[in-house]
Amino acid sequence: MQILRFDVLDSTNAYAKRNCSLLADQTVIIARQQTAGRGRLDRKWISQEGGLYFSLLLKPQKTDFLPNLTQLMALCVCESLRGLGAESHLKWPNDVLVNSQKICGILSEALFTKNGFVGLVLGVGVNIAQQDLDHVGQPATSLARLQIQTNEDALLQDILNRFFQSYEKLLQYGFETIRGTYLQFFPYIGKTVQIKNAAQEVTGAVQTISPEGKLVLQTPEGFTEISIGDMML
Ligand code: BTN
Repeated sequence: MQILRFDVLDSTNAYAKRNCSLLADQTVIIARQQTAGRGRLDRKWISQEGGLYFSLLLKPQKTDFLPNLTQLMALCVCESLRGLGAESHLKWPNDVLVNSQKICGILSEALFTKNGFVGLVLGVGVNIAQQDLDHVGQPATSLARLQIQTNEDALLQDILNRFFQSYEKLLQYGFETIRGTYLQFFPYIGKTVQIKNAAQEVTGAVQTISPEGKLVLQTPEGFTEISIGDMML
């Protein structure tokens, strides 16, 4: 695994995508600041100094379980933060929250050429030392706000160690390999939530996360499985 370090980048995801063909499998790109950090659904990810901003570029041979790699990354961040004493939990599909406030977001982007899949970029932003998070469009927190001190490198290493401990198995056998642990940190079973994505808006009671990593909701029309979307309580 190679780590490329930058003081400032536009976006570590954008860098990984621009240079995908030149970069080796399992390259990590980390920046102290991003000038054009991006979140899901075309949102901005304000990236002033003090946060952890990195992208992991993966070029797996087997691509059956790509969406589950994002869930694995969320789980690893959640476990790392718990290791530091933060009572973090997972908000499906891949946000990490503490006290219902967002502390980490993940933007995953798959890259294709005319010959097919060439890489997956897992972009991770963790709020570490930021005190001012008013710009975030939802309740947010940071380790500093929780009175937890850490250094960005130690946290990065811990997250990556956890990720690569489970990576090959997940590639081979899918979400089932991490489902038990994922569910342990997923406190929404039985809660009524609303899911919005490009295709639909559904309200229902959370039943479980399926063996494929999908959210299973009970709606007035019956059970439905959802692969992607924003979950709102
Ligand atoms: C979200 O919750 O909307 C996802 C946020 C992802 C932010 C990270 S920071 C490192 C990487 N580079 C980016 O431009 N975005 C991701």
